[in-house]
Amino acid sequence: YKRVTVKTLVDMKANGEKISMLTAYDYTMAKIVDGAGIDVILVGDSASNVMAGHETTLPITLDQMIYHASSVVRAIYRALIVVDLPFGSYQSDPKEALRSAIRIMKESGAHSVKLEGGKEIKESIKRILNAGIPVMGHLGLTPQSIYKFGTYTVRAKEEEEAHRLISDAKMLERLGCFAIVLEKIPAKLAKQVAESVRIPIIGIGAGPDVDGQVLVLHDMLGMTHEFNPRFLRRYLNLFDDMTNAIAQYVDDVKTRDFPNKSEQY
Ligand code: KIV
Ligand code: NA
Repeated sequence: YKRVTVKTLVDMKANGEKISMLTAYDYTMAKIVDGAGIDVILVGDSASNVMAGHETTLPITLDQMIYHASSVVRAIYRALIVVDLPFGSYQSDPKEALRSAIRIMKESGAHSVKLEGGKEIKESIKRILNAGIPVMGHLGLTPQSIYKFGTYTVRAKEEEEAHRLISDAKMLERLGCFAIVLEKIPAKLAKQVAESVRIPIIGIGAGPDVDGQVLVLHDMLGMTHEFNPRFLRRYLNLFDDMTNAIAQYVDDVKTRDFPNKSEQY
């Protein structure tokens, strides 16, 4: 396989080739996702919800993100690996942000980091980029600020927030970010953002006119049940399939159907 790099992604946008991205948090799933030909794997802080059962992304720690990232790194041959800097590991000052990003790169072997926000974290992004660490931005709905917004509803419907979004995207490009995740904003605005920068815009709930798409793996496989946003397409219904398989196993054990003659020594 030819490895996907941050340069590959910028070239893909220039050539009009869409970028595919999914999350993964562990070795076994990451191996399947990479083998299926995904371009980018995000070790998202959504691990806080999906892996640990927290209500928000806030509780997950830097150590826990590094554990997930190292597991994913061991599985990957082709995909570019992006790791979320978790809440609290980069907001207080740029030096701490750089320290956190360095820990992720050194201790997990991942290829890049992602941070939520625009102008507020400009100095932190600069420092990380100066150290030679590629940075992906994240604008629109930023789940680490959930308690500031109060809801997970669509963002930037007001003119003022839309303007700020476009100027933040341009700023991230100027600083040297290699791509930006754009979460849950009107499709028309997302198109405008994608047209105003040369770095790829990867959308989630941002419509079709961006440079790539990202989904949470467990959501698109239908392993999760409660989460039903409009933008989510489920490619499998693993929740039901797994429930049925496990119930069948329980039944086979109870009825002594398992193990049979060929399943023993
Ligand atoms: O943590 C995550 O899964 C994310 C994606 C939804 C973009 O940040
Ligand atoms: Na995230």
